[in-house]
Amino acid sequence: MPNRPAQSDPFDLVVFGGTGDLAHRKLLPSLYHREPVGQLGEGARIIAVSRRPLSDDEYRDWARKAICEHVADIDQDALERFLARIQYVSVDVAQNTGWETLEQTLAGREGVVRAFYLSVSPDFFGPICSSLGEHNLVTEKSRVTIEKPIGKNGKSAHTVNETIGSVFKEHQIFRIDHYLGKETVQNLMALRFANVLFEPLWNAAHIDHVQITVAETLGVEGRAGYYDTAGALRDMVQNHLLQLLCLVAMEPPESMAPDSVRDEKLKVLKALHPMSAEMVERNTVRGQYRAGASAGGAVKGYLDELGHPDSHTETFVAAKVDIQSWRWANVPFYLRTGKRLAARVSEITIQFKDLPHSIFLPGAGRIAANKLVIRLQPDEGVKMQVMIKDPGSSSMRLREVPLDMTFAEAFNVRQPDAYERLIMDMIRGNQTLFMRRDEVEAAWKWIDPILEHWSHLKEAPKPYTSGTWGPSASIALIERDGRTWHDESY
Ligand code: NDP
Ligand code: BG6
Repeated sequence: MPNRPAQSDPFDLVVFGGTGDLAHRKLLPSLYHREPVGQLGEGARIIAVSRRPLSDDEYRDWARKAICEHVADIDQDALERFLARIQYVSVDVAQNTGWETLEQTLAGREGVVRAFYLSVSPDFFGPICSSLGEHNLVTEKSRVTIEKPIGKNGKSAHTVNETIGSVFKEHQIFRIDHYLGKETVQNLMALRFANVLFEPLWNAAHIDHVQITVAETLGVEGRAGYYDTAGALRDMVQNHLLQLLCLVAMEPPESMAPDSVRDEKLKVLKALHPMSAEMVERNTVRGQYRAGASAGGAVKGYLDELGHPDSHTETFVAAKVDIQSWRWANVPFYLRTGKRLAARVSEITIQFKDLPHSIFLPGAGRIAANKLVIRLQPDEGVKMQVMIKDPGSSSMRLREVPLDMTFAEAFNVRQPDAYERLIMDMIRGNQTLFMRRDEVEAAWKWIDPILEHWSHLKEAPKPYTSGTWGPSASIALIERDGRTWHDESY
């Protein structure tokens, strides 16, 4: 049986954008999941805020539908208890109206944790923070959570950070990268730092290269407006893929204390080899999906979905990245992410080096180098490819087999959504799985030259058919180094 989580202290969680897509699909279902396990203590309240005028009951009906749509096994008593915690307040951030009602709703609760979750357009981060300050709503126990994207480049990220920092102190600011809340991502830290096995091998002497793939079968869905101003590099690489890279590449932190972990991640970001124009040309590939078949049916191309034939926004990126450090000298990290690809899969592959010398006869068969595959989704788990003697063979024939640990099978527990973990960590005030300001800005410092160089390119991103693994140039990117993408198990 999994341990029951500790019950939270009383809190007010104020969700700006309470009627939005993220609240509907992720925040409300994740919060609900914490009810039946008893994590939401007495005095835990959720205050949803957005523009449209709704009564508490109308919003609760909306929340009930969202939860029923996204949660498989609902405990009706728990659902009623959960809904009773919710209130709704209408505030128009653009018109600067409705703040007094929010003040009244929060009045008298200055002593409890007050968490503001900004699940709204980033253009509103500044105005919301300023209004919270003006209306004296920021208390000693306040925190603020902001969703990505944090800026569109280094300069705008700096401005966002300055604006929020003028109202909240850094220890109160929780910058979400939901990949850090995924179970297997946290397991990556357990694997590396709770086992003596890997650390001696975790370096350039034994590792040939690392691959990080985050592939989606979905297109841009209802978010084309946002996506076309972002693209895959800003939407996925600047945050999720670089964070994964940091967790693979960082030195062992002193402890799991937030700043120990984040200091080590920052060192990795600072050690990324800056991309010159020539390197961008050689080591990055951007693509855009065309019509094809994906997720079981015929799908439109990106430009048709967008209704804008000239967009050069990339829906796919592949890149070869070097980390300038002793540990990773000459060990390339190949990153790849895209929409409308052949399968939904996120995984990290650590490819070890070939044996220095084989004692076996040529007839024993090919000795494949060891490979550690950390699967984030779906079917979270860890797989180690090892060589064994082929069972039953009378001669010494070798065979590659996986030591396979699929977590769902091994533990038979529901894998919590990343937001469940992250929201409760934020309420507790634990910043380990949140990005610090300097990390975000260091990631942009590496991304900015790529964006800059791409902005001067006349040619469109390379087209790829939906349902494939992206443009052929991304395959050439790794194959010209004599390596291949790890696709075999999909
Ligand atoms: P939506 O567009 O679905 O929701 C926006 C929310 O903002 C709505 O609740 C809307 O409510 C509210 N809003 C709009 N204008 C105002 C205003 N003037 N005053 C007060 N509230 C307003 O966005 P998402 O939920 O998709 O995204 C929210 C944030 O999360 C964004 O920063 C996004 O980039 C980020 N994000 C989203 C992801 C997703 O999967 N959806 C994934 C990762 C990040 P109303 O119209 O009633 O005012
Ligand atoms: C979000 C991106 O941050 O992550 C989306 O904005 C993407 O474009 C999503 O689809 C992927 O998250 P997950 O958890 O489904 O892999």
